[in-house]
Amino acid sequence: MELRTVNYWRDDEIATVQLNRPEVLNAINEDVLADLAEVTRSIINDDKIRVVVLTGNEQAFAAGADIKSFVAYNPSDAHKYIHKVQKGMSQLLSLGKPTIASIAGYAVGGGCELAMVCDLRIAADNAVFGLPEINLGIVPGGGATQRLTRLVGEGKAKELVFLGSMINAQKALEYGIINFLVPLADLKEETMKLARKLSRKPPVAIQAAKELINLSFDVDIFNGLMMEKEKFAYLFSTEDQKEGMNAFLEGRKADFKGR
Ligand code: COA
Repeated sequence: MELRTVNYWRDDEIATVQLNRPEVLNAINEDVLADLAEVTRSIINDDKIRVVVLTGNEQAFAAGADIKSFVAYNPSDAHKYIHKVQKGMSQLLSLGKPTIASIAGYAVGGGCELAMVCDLRIAADNAVFGLPEINLGIVPGGGATQRLTRLVGEGKAKELVFLGSMINAQKALEYGIINFLVPLADLKEETMKLARKLSRKPPVAIQAAKELINLSFDVDIFNGLMMEKEKFAYLFSTEDQKEGMNAFLEGRKADFKGR
């Protein structure tokens, strides 16, 4: 895999994807989108991976779309670009493995949106969140008007998108944008602890839970509950269900195989 803007490695069952354009605070351009698509393909095909961590550096998770490439765009260019962004985001969201955004520094614009398509968000105390697109005369295009609204509710979404101002990690925690807030010095270790905890859960059940929760906003409650019932019953066909329940009854820790 030839990557130009992203670092990618795997420790046992945990894959880490690190955005790597530090000179522009990890601003997202066409190369980043292409690299993320390639990495996502590789993760889909690697059965050993149980958890994916998406991260940046200490200054920035990502400062949004690369404004330098934007300046000359016409509507057709903008459409092509944002189509790729949304496609990439959807691929990440529908990855059959849990994803963690590990955030230090700026997570603004497309960076904030990228964090929002991860399943869980852990942030350092220097993290800054915002949707500043309005200040450029545009609106967010990577899903914020839809996903942020679902995450924090209409009032707070309108506040963040209309004002385009930044909020700190503490406020992001209060708003429900992030799940965990830790000191910057502990971010890597706490992220790996969380990733390892998730990697020990039964992967098939985690995938089912992810699919069900992801679709909960898109289907009515009757169909959502029907699907939950079917997944619930299906999981009784897995070895991991037998292992989980036997381990409980035998008073030991379960060892889930992902089958
Ligand atoms: N696109 C392109 N370049 C970007 C960028 C972006 N989204 N965000 C930051 N950069 C570049 C800056 O131009 C600067 O480059 P330079 O050193 O060649 O001048 C470098 O990254 C460092 O950024 P700087 O603005 O000096 O850092 P800061 O700490 O003062 O401010 C931000 C950080 C995030 C508040 C500020 O960079 C910013 O507002 N960025 C744009 C965010 C945005 O609007 N994103 C949505 C785009 S649709």
